[in-house]
Amino acid sequence: MKNLGPLLYELLIDPITQGVREALASMIPSGSSVVDLGCGTGALAFLLAQEATKVVGVDLSPALIAWAEKKRRKKKLAHVSFINADASSLRGFPPLSFDFAVLSLILHEVPEEQRAPLLREAKRVAQEVIIADYHVPLPWNLAGLSARAIESLAGPNHFKGFLSFIGRGGVSALLPDAQLEAQDDKKVLGGAVVVVKARAALPSRHRPCYLLHHESPC
Ligand SMILES: C[S@@+](CC[C@H](N)C(=O)[O-])C[C@H]1O[C@@H](n2cnc3c(N)ncnc32)[C@H](O)[C@@H]1O
Repeated sequence: MKNLGPLLYELLIDPITQGVREALASMIPSGSSVVDLGCGTGALAFLLAQEATKVVGVDLSPALIAWAEKKRRKKKLAHVSFINADASSLRGFPPLSFDFAVLSLILHEVPEEQRAPLLREAKRVAQEVIIADYHVPLPWNLAGLSARAIESLAGPNHFKGFLSFIGRGGVSALLPDAQLEAQDDKKVLGGAVVVVKARAALPSRHRPCYLLHHESPC
C-alpha cells in the first residue's frame, strides 16, 4: 500500500480498517505509552492518544510522516510525535522504552526477511507487542475475497509479499522467531484480520508447569 498517497490511503483504506484499530485499542489499558510501528497516516496513533500518556508513530515513508505530523499540529497533541525511520532499527530508543509496541497491517507488506527483525525490535523497545494482520487461513467469505482483491490491486510485488505472508502461516508462525508468545487474540473484519497480543516468551525453565508440554514432573 506504500504506493498510495496519504490522502488516498486516508480516504480509501482507513475507513475499512477502523474495526482493526478499535480492537487493537481495546487491548491497551489507559495510561500506557505506545510506539506505533508503520503508523501510516497516523489514524491509529490518534485513536490511541485518547487514552495513552505518550504515543510515538514511526514510518519509513517521509510523505506519510509529514501528513501525520501536520494533523498532530492541527490537533495540538503534545503527547504524540511522529518519526521518519526504519522500525526494524530504532536506535534512539533504549530497551523497554514503551509499555506497548503495535504493528498494524505492516508485516504482510514488508519483504519476508524483514518480518522477524521488525518483531524483534518491537519486543526490544516495549513490554508487550500487539500485531494486527491477515488471519491465516484467510477466509473465502466477502471479507477474505475483498482482502485478496485489495492486495492484488496494490501491484504484483505487493501481492507476492502478501501471498508469502499467508503461505508461511501469518502472525502465529512469526512469533517464535522473535521469541514472542501470544497472550490474547481477537478476529475482526469478518475473520480476515487477527489482532494478537504477545510478550517475550519465558525460557522453559522459568515457565509455570501448566505451560510445559512434556511428561517430566515440575
Ligand atoms: C499497509 S500500511 C499500514 C498503515 C497503518 N499501520 C494502518 O494500519 O493502516 C504499512 C505501513 O508500514 C510502513 N512501513 C513499511 N516498512 C516499514 C519499516 N521498515 N519501518 C517503518 N515503517 C514501515 C509503510 O510505509 C506503510 O505506511
